[in-house]
Amino acid sequence: MLRQMRKPAFITRDYPHSYVSEHYRQLRTNITQLLNEGRMKSVAVTSANQGEGKTTTVINLAISFAMGGKRTVIVDADLRRPSVHQVFNVGKSLGLSSLLNDTTALDQVLRETEIEHLWALPAGAIPDNPAELLSGQPMNECLQQLKSRFDVVLVDCPPVLPVVDSKIIANKCDGVVLVVLAGKTKVQAIKKVKQQFEIVKANLLGTVLNGQEKYKSEWYDYY
Ligand SMILES: Nc1ncnc2c1ncn2[C@@H]1O[C@H](COP(=O)(O)OP(=O)(O)OP(=O)(O)O)[C@@H](O)[C@H]1O
Ligand SMILES: [Mg+2]
Repeated sequence: MLRQMRKPAFITRDYPHSYVSEHYRQLRTNITQLLNEGRMKSVAVTSANQGEGKTTTVINLAISFAMGGKRTVIVDADLRRPSVHQVFNVGKSLGLSSLLNDTTALDQVLRETEIEHLWALPAGAIPDNPAELLSGQPMNECLQQLKSRFDVVLVDCPPVLPVVDSKIIANKCDGVVLVVLAGKTKVQAIKKVKQQFEIVKANLLGTVLNGQEKYKSEWYDYY
C-alpha cells in the first residue's frame, strides 16, 4: 500500500488544520526546544530501514518550520536513492555530490522551492563513493555554511541499518531524529540503531512514529 504512493504529500501546507499537521507542529516545537532554542540548527532525519517515511517527515517538518517563518533548507544526503529533487521538481544533476566533489559552489546548487522560506539542496549526481564523500571535510564546511545562512537545516538521510552513511551524517549534525513506521519497524531494529548512534556519538533527539493507526484514515484521504 505505502509503496504505491509516489511523492510524499505536502500535508502541512495543504491541510494545515489537520491532526497530522498539528503533530508536525508539535514535533517542530519539540525539536526547537531540544536544539536549545536555535543555537543548534542541523537535524538529520533517518530510519532503520528503507521506506519508513524519512523523506515524508523531512518535507512536512521543513514546511512546518518554513510556515512558521523560519528560513529552512532541506539537504538531500541520500546520495544512493535521492528523492528531494523529485519532490520539488528541481534539476538532479547538480547538488550535494557536486559540492562535496568541489565542482560547484553552494549558491549554484541551492534551489528555492514553491514554499516561502524553504530551500532545497538536492543530492546531485549519484557518486561512486557516497560514504567517503559524506565523511570528508567538505561536508563539515557545507553544514557550517548552511547553518550560517538558515535558521534550520534538515538533512534527509538513507536508512541506518543497510549502509554507513547515516551514521556519518548523524555524527556531523547537531541532532538526529529517528522515524519509526507503525506496525513495521521492529523493536530490535530500533535498539540496533540506538546502539549504533551511541557508538558514533550522535545526539538522538527522539523518535517520530509515522503511520499511526489513529490518523491513518485521515492521511489516506489526502491521496
Ligand atoms: N504515514 C503515511 N501514510 C501513508 N503513506 C505514507 C506515510 N508515510 C510515508 N508514506 C508514503 O510511503 C512512501 C515511502 O515514504 P518515504 O519516501 O517518505 O520513505 P523513506 O523512508 O524516505 O524511503 P527511502 O528509504 O526509500 O528513502 C512514499 O510514497 C510516501 O508517500
Ligand atoms: Mg527517502
